[in-house]
Amino acid sequence: MSENAEDKAVSIPAQSTGSATLTKNAAPGETLLKVTGLQKHFPIRKGLLQRQVGAVRAVDGIDFEVKSGETLGVVGESGCGKSTMGRLITRLLEPTAGTVEFEGRDITHLGVGAMRPMRRDVQMIFQDPYSSLNPRHTIGTIVGAPFKLQGVTPEGGIKKEVQRLLSVVGLSPEHYNRYPHEFSGGQRQRIGIARALALNPKLVVADEPVSALDVSIQAQVVNLLDDLQQELGLTYVIIAHDLSVVRHVSDRIAVMYLGKIVELADRDSLYKAPMHPYTKALMSAVPIPDPRRRSAKSERILLKGDVPSPISPPSGCRFHTRCWKATEICKTVEPPLLELKPGQQVACHHPENAEDQAPHDTVLLTAARDAVELVAVGTAAELAEAERAAAAATEEPADVAKTSGPEAGNAGDDAAAAADAGTEGESPEPTEK
Ligand SMILES: Nc1ncnc2c1ncn2[C@@H]1O[C@H](COP(=O)(O)OP(=O)(O)O)[C@@H](O)[C@H]1O
Ligand code: SF4
Ligand SMILES: [Mg+2]
Repeated sequence: MSENAEDKAVSIPAQSTGSATLTKNAAPGETLLKVTGLQKHFPIRKGLLQRQVGAVRAVDGIDFEVKSGETLGVVGESGCGKSTMGRLITRLLEPTAGTVEFEGRDITHLGVGAMRPMRRDVQMIFQDPYSSLNPRHTIGTIVGAPFKLQGVTPEGGIKKEVQRLLSVVGLSPEHYNRYPHEFSGGQRQRIGIARALALNPKLVVADEPVSALDVSIQAQVVNLLDDLQQELGLTYVIIAHDLSVVRHVSDRIAVMYLGKIVELADRDSLYKAPMHPYTKALMSAVPIPDPRRRSAKSERILLKGDVPSPISPPSGCRFHTRCWKATEICKTVEPPLLELKPGQQVACHHPENAEDQAPHDTVLLTAARDAVELVAVGTAAELAEAERAAAAATEEPADVAKTSGPEAGNAGDDAAAAADAGTEGESPEPTEK
């Protein structure tokens, strides 16, 4: 079936009495999740004795809070530790150090048994809708698996509840007996969302939920997540590798670089006046037409070079090998994450948009002189025209710009799906694609 045709309307029926509501959500604004000094170092082992010779410092000491009802966007280039962070806070990975508190309770080292009730409250949506759904299971089995795993029988039975969830995410209840291959990418991601919502979670961590999807479908899935949040009072951590995806839906945004949070700010502060040079570079990759400067050529800051290896990150500020403002102190002293403006934390010795942004040591490092390239990307009017053309071509909202192609997937969590397929009732319809 045509994804565009089907994905248009999102109708969210009221939660039936048969829903699997188990606990009440925390009051909006209360701290739901608190992360302190969180680290994950993956050991590198070599030789016959498998001695540890080093470690990938994927997440290297991060602190943040997520309030009930808000959306925290997490952005950063590929390999900077976003997925690892997502897996740590959902406790799919064991941290090397630091703590994770959920509703004031330390869940950092809870065992499988103690974590089981928590699993209802914290769910994850994975990046790749093609590999995160078990191809051998029907949609009914996949979306119904959380009930079986938790031993929960919703009022009215699992099938009825799964069909309700399918309509909540904009799919047809008739899809119950079909298989993942019969669906397009956007529809599969909707199935993943339905599965994540099954147990009425409090926190949903979405790891690049739209990166693998067609541009025209991205906005629809992001809008669905947004609508579901309003309707169900969900709290989100949404991970993306550029700012365009999280721009509209986030209340606050954390920018990660090489296992660290370099800037954490309210969405509006971050967009109006980014303070970390890395945030500025990421923002400049998202062309935003400015109607006041329609004839002015806008420029993009193009960071040169790759993200350095997290096995031996650069000394001092980890961004100093790619920063055009780097001076000697950047190389030697790691800048702490400090609140430089209300609601805006930044880790930088020479922050942008700050009163004292002139560095005390004004001699730039040699590498800083050619760290970036400025690329003209056309006038604001040209950009606006290009956006209009793209929107007309897809006949869809063009508010989510294209992100680059899918990265190495790290999904595939459906191992736990129950084996017994729900096969009562209707026969599968032919695939319409
Ligand atoms: N299981 C693992 N074992 C070893 N290294 C890993 C593992 N998972 C991730 N990494 C490494 O940790 C770093 C961060 O990865 P990841 O969290 O996937 O980043 P992102 O999601 O931002 O692209 C990368 O260098 C990656 O290669
Ligand atoms: S100015 Fe220095 S501290 Fe700030 S981001 Fe650049 S290298 Fe890091
Ligand atoms: Mg990732």
